[in-house]
Amino acid sequence: MKVILVNGSRRKNGCTFTALTEVSEALKADGIESELFFIGDRAVNGEIDAAVKEVGEAMKKADGLIVGAPVYYASPSGEIIAFLDRLFMLYGKDMIFKPGSAITSARRAGTTASLDVMNKYFTFNQMPLVSSRYWNMVHGSSAEDVNKDEEGLQIMRVLGHNMAWLLKCVEAGKKAGIEPPSGEDFLFTNFIR
Ligand SMILES: Cc1cc2nc3c(=O)[nH]c(=O)nc-3n(C[C@H](O)[C@H](O)[C@H](O)COP(=O)(O)O)c2cc1C
Repeated sequence: MKVILVNGSRRKNGCTFTALTEVSEALKADGIESELFFIGDRAVNGEIDAAVKEVGEAMKKADGLIVGAPVYYASPSGEIIAFLDRLFMLYGKDMIFKPGSAITSARRAGTTASLDVMNKYFTFNQMPLVSSRYWNMVHGSSAEDVNKDEEGLQIMRVLGHNMAWLLKCVEAGKKAGIEPPSGEDFLFTNFIR
């Protein structure tokens, strides 16, 4: 089984990367493969469609998704929001029922508001949210800072183990004949009389 990790920071090997690496090591310890995609500035430099396609196509075959982003001005980075808007619009149907989770990194504040924004993509799309033993955040301005954030790193490890456990439960359920709900046809209502 495989989990796709998305780094929504402009910094390739910064705080978000360090947190995602801790998650991937926990996944690996539990026998779950992962692949990290670095979005960088591609969502805002004209390469968004290519970046979305790479992750979207990977998600067709993968079993879970973890999206990481730094906090910019108390929200997730604009880069990750632009990316997720396109990813869920174009590939949402390929991700339904696949467990997802968001993690965030900040020097000090804006983490829970950022998690709230990112979690809404998963909950809009019938994706079970995977949690940890606190809200999924690390603190720091550099990878070195994050490596000193022992609690933050523990939160990432617990998240990885919880994701692995849920994926194994889903797999065991399939083998036992438990299929996802067949769902209903979409109803789109608005508020015009
Ligand atoms: C444009 C910009 C805005 C930021 N805004 C915040 C903020 O609102 N709150 C905060 O705690 N840190 C803020 N930071 C700091 C980053 O969120 C923090 O250093 C983060 O851990 C960087 O992660 P990265 O190394 O993966 O990019 C901001 C950084 C930048 C570049």
